[in-house]
Amino acid sequence: MKTTILAIAGILLASVSYAEDSVQYWMKIKATDKYERSLVAATGVTIETVREDFVVALGNESEKKALDELGILEVSFPMTAEMDFPARDSAYHNYDEMTKKLQDLMAIHSNIASMQSIGKTYEGRDIWAVRISGQLAQADQLPAVVFMGGHHAREHLSIELPIFYVEYLLTEYAKGNPRIQSLVNSRDIHIIPMVNPDGAEYDIASGSYRSWRKNRARNSGNSFGVDLNRNYGFGWGGQGASSNPNSDTFRGPMAFSEPETKAIKKYVEDHQNITILLSFHTFSQLILYPFGHVYDDIPVVRDRQVHEVMAKKMATWNGYTPEKSSDLYLAAGDTTDWSYGEHKIISFTFELDPGDSGWGSGGFYPGAEIIPSVQQKNLEPVLYLIDYADNPYRALDAERGPIFKP
Ligand code: ARG
Ligand code: ZN
Repeated sequence: MKTTILAIAGILLASVSYAEDSVQYWMKIKATDKYERSLVAATGVTIETVREDFVVALGNESEKKALDELGILEVSFPMTAEMDFPARDSAYHNYDEMTKKLQDLMAIHSNIASMQSIGKTYEGRDIWAVRISGQLAQADQLPAVVFMGGHHAREHLSIELPIFYVEYLLTEYAKGNPRIQSLVNSRDIHIIPMVNPDGAEYDIASGSYRSWRKNRARNSGNSFGVDLNRNYGFGWGGQGASSNPNSDTFRGPMAFSEPETKAIKKYVEDHQNITILLSFHTFSQLILYPFGHVYDDIPVVRDRQVHEVMAKKMATWNGYTPEKSSDLYLAAGDTTDWSYGEHKIISFTFELDPGDSGWGSGGFYPGAEIIPSVQQKNLEPVLYLIDYADNPYRALDAERGPIFKP
């Protein structure tokens, strides 16, 4: 009898805390510099908007409590609002639509493009990587660049850009665009549009957006998902990533615990010719570069400079703000800290449009009207990165101008 009551109480308690933690809160939090923002990030919330004296973040009940106790929570409300999938958003690709579109493109342009599964997700979906080169058979000998999107489930716009650039490169090449032909003929281009298909599908599966961020790993207890952009293995376990499985920034039980990050790790390591990496996220209109897990600059001066100069250059095209990741807030275990820190790949994270969340989580769901303009404004940066893959350090000399030799 006693044990039954205890068991029932246990179940009730577990379900109460689960129910509590499954409610997401929109929060406006006082924070005036990177140290205060890091303190906010350290509670486990995801910071979505950074302003001079506050941030907007999403998090669960216990994180809200922690911020309240710190006395810095200004406004909060639970995000229980229905967010029906508006008809106009059908322009976004779900997993099957993306797979089909890429397969069709591969069939038409098989002379310069191929597609392979680089591994399966937690739920068994293939993670697709497209490879584009005018010399596919010898592509390993060419300078390589890798683009990826869709680490975070609700950031659907970050998938639309890589898909578009696959299509753009292939169709412009076929049309005879001389600039694209010369880039494609001399480079090995890798594009992984949807790193986290389980999460992306889950986010839209009910017909209403769920504002889901993580993958769909079954954690211990009643909790789901690891934040894939906290699961990479350079500085993993540091600040700005949570050890709580219920948190939206849960780092996972160990670095590279997830099939999705394992697949990216193996793929990048199998292609030693990769010199540049760009990971698309949304939103905030930022160009970020390492490090994100410490406030320190990249210690190798030329490497720091090349990130700064390239970020600044790309900002002239897309209008985003270039900055070091940790100037935003500390967050350990992201893709680019690993790709640069471990492999010395010049690495960027773009936080795409919109600039602002608006009220609620609208920032992740800006509608389909925005897609073409965001693809267009980021086209030059993408072509620039493809171009400079042969030697990113060229960017430093280009900036200084030709060296005058008497
Ligand atoms: N907003 C992205 C995320 O939360 C990018 C983080 C970049 N890294 C950082 N240390 N701020 O995953
Ligand atoms: Zn993201």
